[in-house]
Amino acid sequence: MQEQFSLKTYNSFGFDVKAKHFVEIQNISDLEKLISSGILETERHLILSGGNNVLFCDDYFDGTVVYMNIKGIDFLTDSTDSIIVRAYAGEDWPDFVQFTVENNLHGLENLAHIPGKVGAAPVQNIGAYGAELKDCFLQCEAICLATGEHRVFKKDECRFAYRNSIFKSELKGKYVIVSVDFLLKRNAQLNLEYGNIKNYLTENKIDTPTLQQLHDAICAIRDAKLPDVRKIGNAGSFFKNPVIEKAQFEALQKAYPNAPHYAEPDGKVKVPAGWLIEKAGWKGWRDEHVGVYEKQALVLVHYGGGKGCDIVELAEKIMQSVKEKFGIEISPEVNFI
Ligand code: EPU
Repeated sequence: MQEQFSLKTYNSFGFDVKAKHFVEIQNISDLEKLISSGILETERHLILSGGNNVLFCDDYFDGTVVYMNIKGIDFLTDSTDSIIVRAYAGEDWPDFVQFTVENNLHGLENLAHIPGKVGAAPVQNIGAYGAELKDCFLQCEAICLATGEHRVFKKDECRFAYRNSIFKSELKGKYVIVSVDFLLKRNAQLNLEYGNIKNYLTENKIDTPTLQQLHDAICAIRDAKLPDVRKIGNAGSFFKNPVIEKAQFEALQKAYPNAPHYAEPDGKVKVPAGWLIEKAGWKGWRDEHVGVYEKQALVLVHYGGGKGCDIVELAEKIMQSVKEKFGIEISPEVNFI
């Protein structure tokens, strides 16, 4: 356990926050020892994975940061058409997806290149390009931080929803995920339906993409509009796309006939927050330290030298401005600490 530990390289915004205590978990027994030490009962604590979806609002975390870094990938049951692959929480998500693609396993390719680690992926049911983690999720093993109990969560127990799960709602902060089992297919039709995938493939003269080509296309599409965390601090989509009533969308569509939207199964309509933020005039806005990314208004960025509270202030102004202009409330996707 380390004290007064800088989290600058442990949060993708790159804020120089100090933690009172920091402990790196490399295997399950590290975690069991930490739980039995009792420190988590007496002190505030935070489970930290890749740090790609957190915003530290203050400069100091007065408690213990538990950094999950358990590595390992195992092939479990194998059949002619599918295979169960177990990945431990500390595996890098993009590397893991690349590994599955290299092994010609289908299912995770549309989730390529999403920064983060395996253990955090179920928490907010990561999604992109027409796929969500839940599509290939079989189960995960988690440990209760209060009792040390090991528990397997089957897919239906996880209550997956758009950028949500039981680990982000009812059980928030109570369990830590140590491994995730994915059910992957040896052969499957590729999912090319999402907006710009087909355009990208056509432009690059790829008629029938291989699994690897689709993976690489997704990486290239993401690179073209999302900032590289190694160069500009950010946490991917900062806001969730709001889901509004059909009548409210129809009113919006009168004013903006080309407003992008996706019909939801319950009749409501999901509107891209990035579009609303752009139309409210924020795209490319910046001050000295923070701003709204010029190629994707859904992403707030930290250019360096700023603090978490600068992003909080900017996010509040954006939410207020979208509410005033469209009467639509948008809310953060990123976890505020
Ligand atoms: N749009 C704008 N202006 C912008 C940004 C977007 O007009 O500045 C419009 C686009 O033209 C498009 C629509 O909004 O018509 C949707 O944009 P895009 O396809 O880029 O997707 P998104 O809704 O902005 C979501 C996810 C992303 C994911 C992409 C691709 C959320 C909150 N975000 O973004 O996830 O990569 O779809 O599937 O659902 C993340 O969670 O960190 C993330 C990057």
